[in-house]
Amino acid sequence: MTYQELLEKARTCIGPYCKACPVCDGVACRNQIPGPGSKGVGDTAIRNYAKWKTIRVNMDTINENKTPDTTLELFGKKFRYPIFAGPVGAVSLHYGDCLNDVDYNNILVKGCAEAGIAAFTGDGTNPAVMKAACEAIKNNNGAGIPTVKPWDADTLKEKFDLVRSSDSFAVAMDIDAAGLPFLQNLDPPAGSKTVEELSDIIKTAGKPFIVKGVMTVRGAVKAKSAGASAIVVSNHGGRVLDQCPSTAEVLPDIAEVLFGTGIKILVDGGIRSGVDIFKALALGADGVIIARPYVTAVYGGAEEGVKCITEKLGAELADTMKMCGVSSLHEISGENILRL
Ligand SMILES: Cc1cc2nc3c(=O)[nH]c(=O)nc-3n(C[C@H](O)[C@H](O)[C@H](O)COP(=O)(O)O)c2cc1C
Repeated sequence: MTYQELLEKARTCIGPYCKACPVCDGVACRNQIPGPGSKGVGDTAIRNYAKWKTIRVNMDTINENKTPDTTLELFGKKFRYPIFAGPVGAVSLHYGDCLNDVDYNNILVKGCAEAGIAAFTGDGTNPAVMKAACEAIKNNNGAGIPTVKPWDADTLKEKFDLVRSSDSFAVAMDIDAAGLPFLQNLDPPAGSKTVEELSDIIKTAGKPFIVKGVMTVRGAVKAKSAGASAIVVSNHGGRVLDQCPSTAEVLPDIAEVLFGTGIKILVDGGIRSGVDIFKALALGADGVIIARPYVTAVYGGAEEGVKCITEKLGAELADTMKMCGVSSLHEISGENILRL
């Protein structure tokens, strides 16, 4: 299956909102929710995509001619590429009822594991979704990351029991889900947490804990003091707060403040090619999350589609590394890019 075939097939079944565009830049879906768009005026996903394009990569081919090593090690697991498929919840609402969350996660987790990477899975009001996602991760040797919403303490305890049964190598929380309508006004309340609350949650989870949805240096420092093992620099693709900066704009300062602390940094938002992945690593990320394009891949080609897009991204990354004269991910630095 080619990437073009995958897109064409996705267009036949991906519902009324997503157009499975040749490049997923946030324009066609803009502020369409339900659908994959952004909140409010809807320009945050567009800005996420556009800001990566203002960074250029520096070519240097006067080097030893060797195959670049694209592998990443995270929390004791080795991955073929520094790429993770992002968590996406309520897929039938946003992308049409050809798939539900359980089927979607089953395909995504398996496809990613077979491609040598790992998927984050989403969470929602239906408890069956997290249960099935954890089973899918277990069936794929723990190669997946359940992403738990910032629920109240009792609900979180139940979720973490499921997470433990999954043998996942890490767990995540999209702390920025505080901005999603379905999480607001719940009783007991869900959403924002203090550093103390987050610290207790991280201790209860008992696994490397990834805090997803950090957009400021202050937020990164708080996640660190709560005991996070990693953060995801993310604005949830513009879906939780109107008119955020792009993730490319805030990543360098966050990477600087966390430098040398051992905390891993992932980033998402509009990363659409291996060249973008290279830029993200040059700005200080250890790896990237890509969400919407993996939805297109699942709708357009199931596990095969997931493998197709992963191979495409991985090959682009390897090519960029070779052309910029770096042979491993650790060697990628600010010297390899030009920021306009
Ligand atoms: C329809 C939709 C549903 C999402 N659901 C979740 C979710 O359940 N949990 C989560 O952490 N992020 C969720 N996200 C955010 C993505 O994981 C990701 O942070 C965001 O889309 C930015 O990455 P992208 O530009 O590659 O899509 C969702 C995004 C979309 C478009």
